[in-house]
Amino acid sequence: MCGIVGYIGDNNPTNVIMAGLHRLEYRGYDSAGVAVVNEGRLDCLKSLGKLKVLDEKLEASPLGGKLGIGHTRWATHGAPSEENSHPHFDGAKEIAVVHNGIIENYQEIRAALEADGVEFRSQTDTETIAHLVRKYYQGDLFAAVKRALQDVEGAYAIGVICKDNPDVLVAARHGSPLIVGLGDGEAFIASDVPAILRFTRKVLYLDNGQVCEIRRDGHRIEDLQGNTIELEVNHIEWDDAAAEKEGYPHFMLKEIHQQPEVIQNTLRGRVDEGSDEVRLTEMNISTDDLKKIEKIVIVACGTAWHAGMVGKYLIEKFTRTPVELDLASEYRYRDPIVPENTLMIPVSQSGETADTLEAIRIAKSRGAKVASIVNAVGSSVARESHGVIYQQAGPEIGVASTKAYTSQCTAFALFTIWLAETRETIDKAEAKKMIAYLREIPGKIQQILDNQDAIQRCAEDPKYRDAQSALYLGRSYNFPSALEGALKLKEISYIHAEGYAAGEMKHGPIALVTDELPVVCVAVEGETYDKMVSNIQEIRARSGIVLSVATEGNQNIEQHSDDVFYVPSCYEPFSPIVVAVPLQLLSYYVAANRGCDVDQPRNLAKSVTVE
Ligand code: F6R
Repeated sequence: MCGIVGYIGDNNPTNVIMAGLHRLEYRGYDSAGVAVVNEGRLDCLKSLGKLKVLDEKLEASPLGGKLGIGHTRWATHGAPSEENSHPHFDGAKEIAVVHNGIIENYQEIRAALEADGVEFRSQTDTETIAHLVRKYYQGDLFAAVKRALQDVEGAYAIGVICKDNPDVLVAARHGSPLIVGLGDGEAFIASDVPAILRFTRKVLYLDNGQVCEIRRDGHRIEDLQGNTIELEVNHIEWDDAAAEKEGYPHFMLKEIHQQPEVIQNTLRGRVDEGSDEVRLTEMNISTDDLKKIEKIVIVACGTAWHAGMVGKYLIEKFTRTPVELDLASEYRYRDPIVPENTLMIPVSQSGETADTLEAIRIAKSRGAKVASIVNAVGSSVARESHGVIYQQAGPEIGVASTKAYTSQCTAFALFTIWLAETRETIDKAEAKKMIAYLREIPGKIQQILDNQDAIQRCAEDPKYRDAQSALYLGRSYNFPSALEGALKLKEISYIHAEGYAAGEMKHGPIALVTDELPVVCVAVEGETYDKMVSNIQEIRARSGIVLSVATEGNQNIEQHSDDVFYVPSCYEPFSPIVVAVPLQLLSYYVAANRGCDVDQPRNLAKSVTVE
């Protein structure tokens, strides 16, 4: 995700920038750096690790100047290291760039620049921007940035400075957030409002494709074609604490709302716009090796294991490859059989879960190839795997996993299409159709987020809010949705909840059904819809409280349910990604109404690094 801050004015830029970066540390914290223009030089300091390491370096060797940019990094391309940390420079170290986002065509740009003799210092996508700006620079930094960005595809928020332009800070955005703060004789740029709130409350929200030239006494904004743009100045009313959560009362709610953007980010760079093919080069598996895989083993814990179950259903259905799904804590102790040509896919948001790591070590020692789905770049799981699909979901602060889960499911969908295309178990037309369905998901989630009144109302209803216990049922692709819905409710609201495959209901849990038991039934359109309706009728016949999650336009379900949450019509195999959202919202609002500590539920830790 990364956070960027820039400053021009009479104060010491590094003081302003570091204060701002500390407010953005939630966006990433594996390395950091600052660069300033000072007396005709470009001075820079970088450090690996949290911002306090950079603070110490700056205390020992302060930087001067009146203009600077800074960055706190959450790695996407290139492991966390000093050389990969921002700012990045052109060859002569005269132009410095900080960047948040992903440049999708950086490999092509890099190859072309290298062919022209440009030498790169890092493995990042960002460094290409610095070299491109240099290529087009002829004394006007604003013009050079606009021209450079015409060559770039992907998402970016950037800040650019040049040693020969001590009065100019250039900022641009496309896809990643960026604001410009206007002060008295000074100005700021930042990824997010909290970074600059103590300095100014006057803010411009840059829009996609806009480039801004900022001087201490004014600014101008143009699009990449040079058309002038006027933006309204907003006055921020939030206090500091609310601003970090962007006005949401909890990180969990903010992260639930980030999901449309997060899923776009998981897809970014992996689905070629032109050819409609999936590219997962970071998995480090050749097409030949992919064809040879005879068995896939998915290991994970908790929510990540539920995403693994979504993955199992998808992979088996579309690639006809047998998939074994195991809890990492079980796998490591059961002397697992690892036949030749086994691919292990560990799934982990933090990349530091002790059981998952141990499962990887066992599988590797028995000859398996390991390609993980991980959010934290450079984490232990990523480092110990042969290849990786990074989720690109940004840091998840709420202990209960939300955006990480839906992005893990999305990563599995991508992997499935890739494997199925390679093994020719689906044809090109079907792959194209599946990719189109994936691309629709962010919009469908946004629709749910825009219409969440019914969910909020239910969460206030005592029959849900004060329940002692709850049951979640789903079938087929949405069995994992039931498991995940129940886990979300229990971990943040402390209501005992169980997820079951609906077909198992008669084999035990039906004994629990009374007029006090809410049963959340995932009954979206698809092959098992009629079976779900039968289950719902059986629960109603025993006076259970039925809360259905159904597809928009299904009026029939209302007669069988006490309440219904509607989700947009969705391709059934990918429906768990959409269904997760109302279930997350239900848990969130129930827990909030019960006065629970939503972001830090009792006894839980975000990263379980011990057994
Ligand atoms: C639940 C939750 C946990 C994690 C589990 C694995 O909301 O967040 O169940 O999914 O601890 O963590 P990672 O994905 O970091 O390996």
